[in-house]
Amino acid sequence: MDARKDTVLKVQDLKVAFHTELGTAEVLHGLDYQLEKGKVLAVVGESGCGKTVHALSLLKILPSGGEITCGHIYFKNKDILSLSSEELRKLRGAKISMIFQDPMTSLNPIRTVGAQLTETVLAHRKTSALRAQATAIRLLKKVGIPNAKERMKEYPFQFSGGQCQRIMIAMALCLHPDILIADEPTTALDVTVQAQILKLIKDLQTQNQMAAVFITHNLSIVADVADEVLVLYGGYCVEKASVEELFSRPLHPYTQGLLCSLVSVRDKQEKLPAIEGYPPAAGQTLSGCPFAPRCPKACAKCHESLPPLFTKNGHEVRCWLREEKA
Ligand SMILES: Nc1ncnc2c1ncn2[C@@H]1O[C@H](COP(=O)(O)OP(=O)(O)OP(=O)(O)O)[C@@H](O)[C@H]1O
Ligand SMILES: [Mg+2]
Repeated sequence: MDARKDTVLKVQDLKVAFHTELGTAEVLHGLDYQLEKGKVLAVVGESGCGKTVHALSLLKILPSGGEITCGHIYFKNKDILSLSSEELRKLRGAKISMIFQDPMTSLNPIRTVGAQLTETVLAHRKTSALRAQATAIRLLKKVGIPNAKERMKEYPFQFSGGQCQRIMIAMALCLHPDILIADEPTTALDVTVQAQILKLIKDLQTQNQMAAVFITHNLSIVADVADEVLVLYGGYCVEKASVEELFSRPLHPYTQGLLCSLVSVRDKQEKLPAIEGYPPAAGQTLSGCPFAPRCPKACAKCHESLPPLFTKNGHEVRCWLREEKA
């Protein structure tokens, strides 16, 4: 890998397949990106495009049947895919932390929040139980839980959805990870709470100079948090650019469609046509561009062969229409 000092994560040609009774289906078809220290990459795309599968691959925690069939994932200089299970265990949480969409599935409902947080600290840090408890209280305060000391004794059901997500963030951050992976951390929450949680993640990320991979299907919320955006479609990266560039000059018809539907919602204008049709199903064999069947600009070539990623000034786009201009 190239040795840029501040690269904390480098994903190279990552391919993932699922083996099921119906056969083997490739769901990620060769993903490439790198993430610098202190930067936020947003991974955006419709349901089923491979966002979560990509995130789970980063920690090698794919569900059964899932397999990384190709590629490399470097954390700093280490290839995560070649680590032993003990090395991986140390990496998870301590160096790379993940928060999920629904905190209730990650918190144990029958143990107090204090016990769970203290245990997480103790699992990775050599310290006394008393000190771990003090750390847990400090973390709860930091993520904005009032009366933190008293609330350590409470169970997850005694907290609101937004507070549970704050607790998950506290857990994810307690070991000062280098990278935070947040998979749709706010979709289960109402809009005001979503904004508060995003602000919290952004503040903590900036304070700790942490890198983050922020996964969402909602392009509108990434403008304020991301430095770079990667648009996934049907398991392919179809566009990647800085957040300013992507919002001001989207090049892929899919990204343009996503942005158009945002504008129509924001300005409460007559609704612009949403992107018609559905993304390809997992395992569906397509000879051309995965977006061609839905693309208003598709030509014959788009249906025949898969475009490569064309790059110009750091802006990557997988679209034949950009061939000459790249
Ligand atoms: N356990 C599994 N077994 C078989 N296929 C799976 C499994 N998990 C995911 N897939 C397939 O992998 C593809 C990508 O799924 P993934 O969960 O990554 O989508 P996503 O982008 O996170 O969607 P969402 O926005 O709904 O969370 C889908 O086509 C899905 O059917
Ligand atoms: Mg998902």
